[in-house]
Amino acid sequence: MNLFDRCRDFQSKIEYLKTHNQFFYLREFDPAATPVVTQKGKEYIMLGSNNYLGLVDHPKVIEATRKALENFGTGACSSRVLTGTTSLHTKLEKRLARFKGTQDSVVFSTGFMTMMGTISAITGEDDLIFSDELNHASIVEGCRLSKAKKQIYRHNDMGHLEEQLASTPSEKSKMIVTDGVFSMKGTVANIPAIKELADRYGAAVMVDDAHGTGVLGEKGHGTLEHYDLEGKIDLVCGTFSKSLCTIGGFTGSNSEVVTFLKLNSRSFIFTASPPPFVAATVLACLDVIDNEPEILRRLRDNTEFVKTKLKDYGFVLEDTITPIIPIMINDDEKTFRMAGALEEAGVIINPVVYPAVPPGASLIRVSVMASLSTEQLSEALDKMKAVGKKLQII
Ligand SMILES: Cc1ncc(COP(=O)(O)O)c(C=O)c1O
Repeated sequence: MNLFDRCRDFQSKIEYLKTHNQFFYLREFDPAATPVVTQKGKEYIMLGSNNYLGLVDHPKVIEATRKALENFGTGACSSRVLTGTTSLHTKLEKRLARFKGTQDSVVFSTGFMTMMGTISAITGEDDLIFSDELNHASIVEGCRLSKAKKQIYRHNDMGHLEEQLASTPSEKSKMIVTDGVFSMKGTVANIPAIKELADRYGAAVMVDDAHGTGVLGEKGHGTLEHYDLEGKIDLVCGTFSKSLCTIGGFTGSNSEVVTFLKLNSRSFIFTASPPPFVAATVLACLDVIDNEPEILRRLRDNTEFVKTKLKDYGFVLEDTITPIIPIMINDDEKTFRMAGALEEAGVIINPVVYPAVPPGASLIRVSVMASLSTEQLSEALDKMKAVGKKLQII
């Protein structure tokens, strides 16, 4: 077989999906993360972005980013380990540590590289990793890259996790890894139970708080604030690509672990530093989160508004306290049809099918932003109701 036959075969699959209106990937939106976006000149209401707090065009964030761009240029043009660390990177690491209640933190160039590089540096071939079955692909890759033995426990199933922990030799070093908020279903990990099991069985805990940061907890500091467990978890990671509205990621821990990661994590060492203006963007977002709590309140009001309406209309929702609202469809064909009909009507949502969720558990992932107005939400909800009725989903 020619090496590139797989590309040709794949192309025919894409053509098939496109002719059946089932291809919702690699579209072009200008801009991409605002309440109203345009695609090929047509306007859409955006219910598919992770810009939960809507800070992507906040005046203070734009101003801080612009200033850093003018003072530091477009990039640092080297690895963080060599000449690619600026005072903005260091300031951000200290600020993130304070925000997350850890001693120190390390900033990576993407969230994916954060999880992959943290897990693969911390664990080795004699160790054991326990990972939730719905953990993000970046965690899965980290586990794959690490030579540690992996055990996958059923989603948020603490009984299953305990069974696995109990059946492993006590002298082995162990780490439990979980998303804080699961990206597709919006469920929140049971961190108190995980922490209790970890203490009982002598395991470390790593939480990927990509979707919890800015969203959960009274101040929006994330899943650990929500559970009052700040400073009590070994490794707290996250990304800048959701509420912090740019690109990059971080791991918070004690100073020794952070220094170890900076000098041992291959996805930190062998890649270029994130541009300094990215650090300025995140610093400004963290200040806005701390100083303008009304934005988080607005996000919560918007989330409640959408959830209540969708339930009233008869949609079946997975229970969630986050702005990720999953409408359970459990049928790939219907999920795609709903996404297509909504797009035609001017609303963007994400259809989610296997392998992002288990087979047969397809869903429509609605994600809410604080910056969406009640009028925009009402218009989108009316359209969802009409499409849901037409496709006999409600
Ligand atoms: C839970 C989770 N972890 C990690 C990542 C990777 O982050 P990034 O997109 O910033 O590389 C994502 C986002 O895609 C995510 O949802």
